Amino acid sequence: MKKPGADWSSVAALHRRIAAACDWQALGEIYFHWGGEQFWAEKAPQVGELGERLARALLPKVRAAGASLWVGAGVAELPVLLAEVMLRGRDVVATNLREREVAVLNAALDKVAPELPLRYVAGDACEVAAGRPFDHLGCISVFTDPETWPVLSDVAYGRVPPVQVDVERFVAEREQARALARKLFARLARPGLVTTSAEEVAWFLECAAAVGADYEADEELIDTAVVGDPVGFVGFR
Ligand SMILES: C[S@@+](CC[C@H](N)C(=O)[O-])C[C@H]1O[C@@H](n2cnc3c(N)ncnc32)[C@H](O)[C@@H]1O
Repeated sequence: MKKPGADWSSVAALHRRIAAACDWQALGEIYFHWGGEQFWAEKAPQVGELGERLARALLPKVRAAGASLWVGAGVAELPVLLAEVMLRGRDVVATNLREREVAVLNAALDKVAPELPLRYVAGDACEVAAGRPFDHLGCISVFTDPETWPVLSDVAYGRVPPVQVDVERFVAEREQARALARKLFARLARPGLVTTSAEEVAWFLECAAAVGADYEADEELIDTAVVGDPVGFVGFR
């Protein structure tokens, strides 16, 4: 159920309070290894602004009281997760492999919003809430993550000349990524929506072709605050 009295300004206000309660030094070390706190000082205002833009585009496309599975959800997704829970009463499962980031974000949520049914979960999205279908899958800059897929990431962003691609490693990473995409796509109830970045949408289109699912991609693309990848929406039937 929608949180009584919640509106866009209360979502933004709660996001600001949670952000203020975050340990930015820790988040700086997790994301950037060095100079991170300074980076966040510059990026933080964009997280709220671009996060709200993404949330405003997403919310009309998902049903009230449905359920979202977010893969690799971090700082950038927080405004969207809050809007889903507070304005649409949706059940949000937000997963991330980085245990420390999950602990930092949950500590801020515990402090500022103890009653809100939203916490990040440390673990593989394929294993968390296993067996449950979701009508929305959020997957932003996961298949391009340099920590998880260094070669796929280099290829996706055009950072490696073809002559230097480690082909064996590329094939191994591609098979792992395909397996992940298949497992995630299997969790999506159809009709269902995928929110994902332009660079990684092809993983899901391949899954759709394999099961004969139709799709329609939205034209609108919105940049994310941290990685900066353009994000859009694809509906699958
Ligand atoms: C490059 S970061 C992007 C973070 C965030 N989505 C953003 O746009 O700022 C990729 C994230 O995906 C997470 N990830 C990779 N594979 C995952 C999986 N199977 N389940 C959950 N999270 C995963 C990593 O732990 C990492 O936090």
